[in-house]
Amino acid sequence: MIQFRNVSKSFGARTAVNGISFGIDKPQMVGVIGRSGAGKSTLLRMINRLTPATSGQILFGDRDILSLKGAMMRRWQRDCAMVFQQFNLVPRLDVVTNVMLGRLNGHGTLKSLFNVFAEDDVRDALAALDRLGIAQEATKRAEELSGGQQQRVAIARALMQTPYMILADEPIASLDPMNAKIVMDALREIHERDGKMVICNLHTLDTARSYCDRVIGMRDGVLVFDGKPEELTTQAAREIYGADESFNEAATSTAIDAGAPGRSRSAGAMSPAAVAV
Ligand SMILES: Nc1ncnc2c1ncn2[C@@H]1O[C@H](COP(=O)(O)OP(=O)(O)OP(=O)(O)O)[C@@H](O)[C@H]1O
Ligand SMILES: [Mg+2]
Repeated sequence: MIQFRNVSKSFGARTAVNGISFGIDKPQMVGVIGRSGAGKSTLLRMINRLTPATSGQILFGDRDILSLKGAMMRRWQRDCAMVFQQFNLVPRLDVVTNVMLGRLNGHGTLKSLFNVFAEDDVRDALAALDRLGIAQEATKRAEELSGGQQQRVAIARALMQTPYMILADEPIASLDPMNAKIVMDALREIHERDGKMVICNLHTLDTARSYCDRVIGMRDGVLVFDGKPEELTTQAAREIYGADESFNEAATSTAIDAGAPGRSRSAGAMSPAAVAV
């Protein structure tokens, strides 16, 4: 389906992505991991042309993605919906309108904004919100929702694009563990039920292991691991993260951190393990 051929991106003297080649030939759920600055966001953003590649080729079927222009490029951007760490909603707009914005790409934006939306759009937006378990929030302003709810709105907006694939850049990095699970479950459900490809940048190993069919590890712009989650041994993780023997997986875990202010005690007290002890 999608092929990277020797793709690189430099920002001035800094090479963010360095000659990456790999292919995804079926709609997998792929996790991309690596330490901060490894090039994960740049890789994802080159797919939907938010960041222009410096060299190489990205092919989707026989389409050369990096040479698309104008309407064809906008069409492609609709086909690969982005989900961002900071949700990127319009805070003062209501939730259902935020979701319908997923339909704008490819239409006349101003016209759509002023004419409100077609009945179909409203219906589909409500269905998407319902699927994500937040239809009851449809009329609230986006800024009134919790982070986890906002990310679900962003995923509903992505669904409105009827994309081939969802590109999620650290979708749970700003969420607490419970909301992180809800959001990852939603992405996994979309992958399984709709057969969509999901490529998800993650900074936690345990999330990549439990949700992804395949894990890609990046280090300094280079692909250093590509395998199944079960192949991601502690040794492989050390190589990806460039860590020595002192490397501790807990440092890259979403598990409730006893040191985290405010939430560790109550969350721990509610867990069956804590009760049993
Ligand atoms: N717009 C930009 N201008 C200049 N340098 C950039 C730009 N975007 C990224 N870089 C550099 O490219 C490298 C890779 O950045 P990128 O954001 O892709 O890493 P990342 O793996 O997503 O990191 P993080 O986990 O912190 O999000 C970094 O050295 C970064 O400073
Ligand atoms: Mg990033």
